[in-house]
Amino acid sequence: MRLILLGAPGAGKGTQANYIKEKYNIPQISTGDMLRAAIAAGTALGLEAKKVMDTGGLVSDDIIIGLVKDRLTQPDCANGYLFDGFPRTTPQADAMKDAGVTIDYVLEINVPDEAIVDRMSGRRVHPGSGRTYHVKFNPPKVEGKDDVTGEELVQRPDDKEETVKKRLSVYHEQTEILLTYYGDWAKSGKPGAPKYRKIAGVGPVES
Ligand code: AP5
Ligand code: ZN
Repeated sequence: MRLILLGAPGAGKGTQANYIKEKYNIPQISTGDMLRAAIAAGTALGLEAKKVMDTGGLVSDDIIIGLVKDRLTQPDCANGYLFDGFPRTTPQADAMKDAGVTIDYVLEINVPDEAIVDRMSGRRVHPGSGRTYHVKFNPPKVEGKDDVTGEELVQRPDDKEETVKKRLSVYHEQTEILLTYYGDWAKSGKPGAPKYRKIAGVGPVES
């Protein structure tokens, strides 16, 4: 199974990815998590990415495409994968098409902008795994601790209200166009076209 999760920052891509990857036994390829791992490791890539991510902008297409192509050569991708937060621009989507990367399903998760800021301000993450919680909507079993490892949860530095607003506007300017990109491709019914599904992202996490 090869999937793309499309949706605004805070739509719940990472939250749903957690369930989908277990169900289909496929790796979650989250470019955001990969960049945060590079920041934590203090690599040159991480240092460069941090500057951009802290302002809510997008890391350059060349860097991202290189990271993902490299990731796809790893053996755990043989059975499929779940893209979370990628592709995010037309050049990123084109790069996958040109490389012959096939996709079975594109899932569009919809949440109104008004709900997003609330979600972000209550988000807590486990840096080691990327597991995501919300203080109110999806709390961990023990306050401030990861369910699996018991390690400390943290807030993401780009979850400040101003940065969230910037990320939302970048989403509308540069990523939303991919809804049409994949929607039209799916409608064309051409060989290799993905199936496209829209999902309301406002109900309970489980539904
Ligand atoms: P990235 O990490 O991809 O962030 P994002 O797309 O902005 O998405 P988020 O992770 O913020 O949200 P999400 O949809 O995963 O929501 P979540 O499940 O956590 O990217 C970060 C940065 O890296 C970018 O800004 C950019 O700089 C760079 N980057 C990454 N990929 C890139 C690329 N391809 N190209 C260029 N640059 C790139 O949920 C959010 C909160 O809501 C949580 O607290 C959760 O518990 C809660 N929640 C989830 N579902 C529900 C629900 N149904 N009801 C109530 N609360 C819910
Ligand atoms: Zn995420």
